[in-house]
Amino acid sequence: MGKEQYKESNKERYPHIFSPGQIGSLKVKNRIKYAATETNFPFGDGFVSDREVAYMEAQAKGGAGIVTTQGAYPDTKGEGKGFKGMMSIAEDRFIPGLARIAEAIKRNGALAALQILHCGREGGVELDYCLMPSVVPQRLSYFKPPRKISSYQIKESVQDHIRAARRAVDAGYDIIEISGIVGYLLSTFISRYTNKRVDKYGGDIKNRCRLMMEVLQGVKAEAGDSVPVGIRLCGLELLDDRGGNTVEESLESFLLAEEAGADYVSVTIGWHESSVSVITRDVPMGHWLYVAERIKKIVNIPVMMAFRQFMPETPEKAIGDGIIDFWEACRPMIADPELPLKISKGRKEEIIPCIACNLCFSRLYYHQPIMCSVRPTLGHENEADWGYYGFSRSKRKKKIVVIGGGPAGLQCASVAAKRGHKVTLLEKRELIGGNILLASKVDEGAIELLRPIKMLEGECLHSGVEIRLGIQYTPEALVEEGTDAIVIATGSIVKTFPLITSQNIFTPEDIIDKGKNPPKRTVIIGGEGVGLGIAVFLSRQGEYDLVIVEEGGRLGRDVNPFYLWQYLKLLKEKRVTLLTRSRVVGMEGKMLCINRMAEKEFIEVDGIIISQREPVKEWNLDLGHVAKEVYFIGDAKRPRRLHNAIYDGYRLGMML
Ligand SMILES: Cc1cc2nc3c(=O)[nH]c(=O)nc-3n(C[C@H](O)[C@H](O)[C@H](O)COP(=O)(O)O)c2cc1C
Ligand code: SF4
Repeated sequence: MGKEQYKESNKERYPHIFSPGQIGSLKVKNRIKYAATETNFPFGDGFVSDREVAYMEAQAKGGAGIVTTQGAYPDTKGEGKGFKGMMSIAEDRFIPGLARIAEAIKRNGALAALQILHCGREGGVELDYCLMPSVVPQRLSYFKPPRKISSYQIKESVQDHIRAARRAVDAGYDIIEISGIVGYLLSTFISRYTNKRVDKYGGDIKNRCRLMMEVLQGVKAEAGDSVPVGIRLCGLELLDDRGGNTVEESLESFLLAEEAGADYVSVTIGWHESSVSVITRDVPMGHWLYVAERIKKIVNIPVMMAFRQFMPETPEKAIGDGIIDFWEACRPMIADPELPLKISKGRKEEIIPCIACNLCFSRLYYHQPIMCSVRPTLGHENEADWGYYGFSRSKRKKKIVVIGGGPAGLQCASVAAKRGHKVTLLEKRELIGGNILLASKVDEGAIELLRPIKMLEGECLHSGVEIRLGIQYTPEALVEEGTDAIVIATGSIVKTFPLITSQNIFTPEDIIDKGKNPPKRTVIIGGEGVGLGIAVFLSRQGEYDLVIVEEGGRLGRDVNPFYLWQYLKLLKEKRVTLLTRSRVVGMEGKMLCINRMAEKEFIEVDGIIISQREPVKEWNLDLGHVAKEVYFIGDAKRPRRLHNAIYDGYRLGMML
């Protein structure tokens, strides 16, 4: 079978994903819906920016049947505004910007859905309060102090949603979606955890769903029959420790949404303050589908779900098995808007894979535009030099040698080659991946970190990079080859500690790769990502008396908050001693000497693990005779996280 034929026939491998669907009166070309995603790309005053339009256009070009906007807040005071760069649908003056997004989506063959989102308990980002049905103190100190919403304000909020719906129709949207999840206004009414009201909006589940139903009924009436209205609700709150809804109550909320006229439901999981992991790597793909299945059994409208369905096999089976009708994808399509196209064309290995690191999400809470660890082009879709739609060739073709086959080197090599340079990548090991090979073994799900490495290797090969493995090069060998630019991407190694003299010194590689077992009483030097990762790894393997010694005032400074709380929770449960503001200053026999807040302290230890890293110095030479241009990227410049390596590589590849 020819390559093209194979590509064309690929839709048949995913017959359910690529079968047409129906929402209300509308036909949908396939079962893929790009799920609502705040980006912080719009301007701080709620107006849509060019950057947002370009991003949404890329999503539509990627082939999803439905493309949903980020949630737009519906009220003029900004009580519903949860992110500094959240877009607004609170006044008519926002319609032209919203219409630009609708037009870009529809022009590219998708249905345009607009999401109305009042952030409630997570709202009022620029105010000194947030609105809730009852005053229930915040669990996450980041959010604003709650203020009880009055009956008058409830009526106003219903009207806000209705007026927002009219603007969405005027702006040309095909579908309207209402978000009532994770701690946003409607969900706080639905949940028994946050709704303690004694009026008709509180009490049993039917009363707690009253606001949601009034909003749905009002929006439906405003939108008319030709514009379907869907709603996102929580299928499982994961708030048992706070007195949240029972499973039965959550199910009832979906039935009531259907009764109020919803044309589809999107099933979501957890609240932001749930103390259970929902969307991190340790949650197996497709894990939450059982919740959608419960809902699918009781409603007669289409059911959709996102949540860790990163590979098409999962939703393909779920749709085939009648568990969901539509596959919603958020992070997989932040990482690669072309996900649907690549699946349908048999180019699955080219998908830029989301690694569930949640950098995108956490950026929102630092009031920053979202970034993606594995896709540096995010937010630069309309800037030609970033090459989202392909690079133009460099004016001068250079001979470039990249030393090191970790993420920085691979990313740099692939971009440079796409720009027309002749690129050779040298890796002294037999395997590419650099330190990611180690990171991929740290915990459950970490194996997914190898997916972007595989994808980058494919990109390199596809764009003509010559990859040479298992050869230790010298500068002289490169002189002979004739090189214009040399890129040092040799990564990092464990830091040397001349002050420490113990026999029992281990590196993370010793423990994870070589399976060495450190003594029970072991100190880990360094409490950033690597140190915490090792502590978590050991704590899951057996019984240790571990101590982490960290110079800074905080542990896990470089670890995403979605993972950090889990790690710290486990380490506390395992009674790991966590010492911050503590610096190792020497060793006497078995006594490790640390300087802790200006006081000298001794810790008796049998083993030491050094987690701190420093750049590999092997190529830190005067290379002026090898090439005119010499660059250092990734950990070879300064040990940091995966996304720093990928961004370093990408940016250098763009400018070489
Ligand atoms: C950066 C980011 C922004 C999000 N913004 C919204 C939003 O505006 N409205 C909403 O209902 N859900 C929002 N979500 C939730 C997603 O739509 C989705 O339900 C969740 O990420 C799980 O799906 P996934 O595993 O496909 O990412 C957001 C998620 C992320 C990562
Ligand atoms: S930042 Fe991380 S979680 Fe977000 S889309 Fe990119 S890879 Fe996925």
